[in-house]
Amino acid sequence: MSPTIGFPLFLVITLAFLGGVVATGYAAHRRRHIPLVVCSVISLGITIFFAERLGHLFDLKATGWIYPFHLALAKTTTLSYLLPVVFGSLTIREPTWLLWHRRVAYLVLFLTVITAATGAWMLCIAERLPGVS
Ligand code: HEM
Repeated sequence: MSPTIGFPLFLVITLAFLGGVVATGYAAHRRRHIPLVVCSVISLGITIFFAERLGHLFDLKATGWIYPFHLALAKTTTLSYLLPVVFGSLTIREPTWLLWHRRVAYLVLFLTVITAATGAWMLCIAERLPGVS
C-alpha cells in the first residue's frame, strides 16, 4: 500500500480506536477498553510506519523549524502512551487512581491531536522531491 493512502487511512483508524477507548473508559467497559487500547497502539505503530515512508517523498528539512519541532513532538507523544498504561494498571488495583488516569489519558489525546496537526501542516508546506515515488 502506498504511504499517500496508508498514512491518512491508518490515522483515521487510530483516531476511531481512540474514540472507542474513551467511550469504553467512561462506560467502565474494561473488557473492551483494554483490547481497544492495544488496537490503538498497533494502529498508531502502522501510522508511524506510513508517516516515515511518506516523509521520504518530501523535502521536509526545507520546511524550517516545524520539522524538528514535529519530530520532537512525535517522539514525546509516542512515549507518553506509557502514562495511561501505568495509571490504568494502578486504577485496576486501586480505583482512586482513576482521576489521574483520566488526566494523563487526556494529555495523551491532546498530544496526539497536536502531533497530527503539526505533521499535516509540515506536509502542506513541504515540496515534493522530484523523481521519488
Ligand atoms: C491511550 C490510552 C487510554 C486512554 C485514552 C484511556 C481513557 C480512559 C478514560 C477517558 C476513562 C474514563 C475515566 C473516568 O471515568 O473518569 C478510562 C477508564 C479506565 N481505564 Fe483507561 N485509557 C487508556 C488506557 C488504559 C490502559 C492501558 C488501562 C489498563 C492497563 C486502562 C484502564 C482503565 C480502567 C481500569 C478504567 C476505569 C474503568 C471503570 O471505571 O471501571 N486504560 N480510561
